[in-house]
Amino acid sequence: MLPEQNPAHSAGLSYTLGMGGIAVIAAVMTTVTGALLMFYYEPTLSGAYPSLALIDSVVSSGRLVRALHYWAAQVMVVAMVIHTARIVFTGGYRPPRDVNWFIGLGLLLVTLVWNFSGYVLRFDASSIWALLVGTNLLKELPGIGSTLYLIIVGDQALGSATVLRFYTWHVFGLTLLGLGGIGYHLWRVRVDGGLSRPDWTADQSRRFVSRETILFRELITALVLTGSLVLLSIFTPPDLGPPADLNQVSGQSVQAPWFFLAIQWLLRYIPSLWAGWIVPLAGLVLLALLPLLDRRGPGRGRWFARERWQPQAAFAGLLLLILVLSLLELFQVK
Ligand code: HEM
Repeated sequence: MLPEQNPAHSAGLSYTLGMGGIAVIAAVMTTVTGALLMFYYEPTLSGAYPSLALIDSVVSSGRLVRALHYWAAQVMVVAMVIHTARIVFTGGYRPPRDVNWFIGLGLLLVTLVWNFSGYVLRFDASSIWALLVGTNLLKELPGIGSTLYLIIVGDQALGSATVLRFYTWHVFGLTLLGLGGIGYHLWRVRVDGGLSRPDWTADQSRRFVSRETILFRELITALVLTGSLVLLSIFTPPDLGPPADLNQVSGQSVQAPWFFLAIQWLLRYIPSLWAGWIVPLAGLVLLALLPLLDRRGPGRGRWFARERWQPQAAFAGLLLLILVLSLLELFQVK
């Protein structure tokens, strides 16, 4: 997908931070390790938890593969957030890259749901609570809520149909959307004339970097990332809590995945329609509006350009709010 020669301005780590590439590598690793887990995971109500316990304790290299799957998925979310921040702070969303910005927002949503649906497949005590809270939020949606709930949960209450639906979406529907979306996103970078950069007139040097050099850097990144993830997986494998008891969910602790902690905090204090839908959608609309409000003028292709301080301040404010709410939830501050 790379042209033979690429402008040096945007080919270096100091411009991209390498985060888009790291998200691609993490997505590939998640898919490969997920395919391996499919040989042992049992998508049934009674079999899901025991099959994971088996993968962790009996299957050869099972714990390592499950841990790699988990950590690669978390790296994908973190890399995607930093990647989005890099786009905002360098003005990379401006036309003609606005279409790719919207595709990126779609990928952001798909990745979060992809990750959440995997967390639910653990079927341990805390993930079942997250599932219950998440699916009950669907009912809050005026008009279509109860139909959407039935489509996603598969029945009036959580049960066997729910496990199978989440599994099918996780390994098939969302994987197809995620990988297909990433492929299209990368192809659009090329169609849009490569990465954003200041006008040529402002970049007098006009230096280029060859495709082979970039490919070599990506290979090194992939090797370093894989090595780090293997170490992380060996020393800090993900938990598997006590098994879920669908008859006694109320006594168990709610533990949303870390990237939903801010919403979990909001759910304690404001009505769930606002906490689960209106506030997150308002954040998403704000992001979607960026390329519509800030279309032209100087400052593209440069980090923290003063001319574009308003969108950068709005984005930094949003990130800070999410971070503070997540910390409040993590430390249970009331
Ligand atoms: C699965 C998640 C994603 C992957 C794998 C991915 C991958 C990439 C890669 C490899 C690039 C080129 C290199 C780079 O800029 O680092 C890129 C560029 C871009 N991405 Fe993403 N991306 C993802 C999510 C997003 C999100 C969430 C957004 C924004 C909401 C976004 C918007 C863009 C834009 C606008 C560009 C062009 C930037 C420029 O020209 O400066 N991407 N993406």
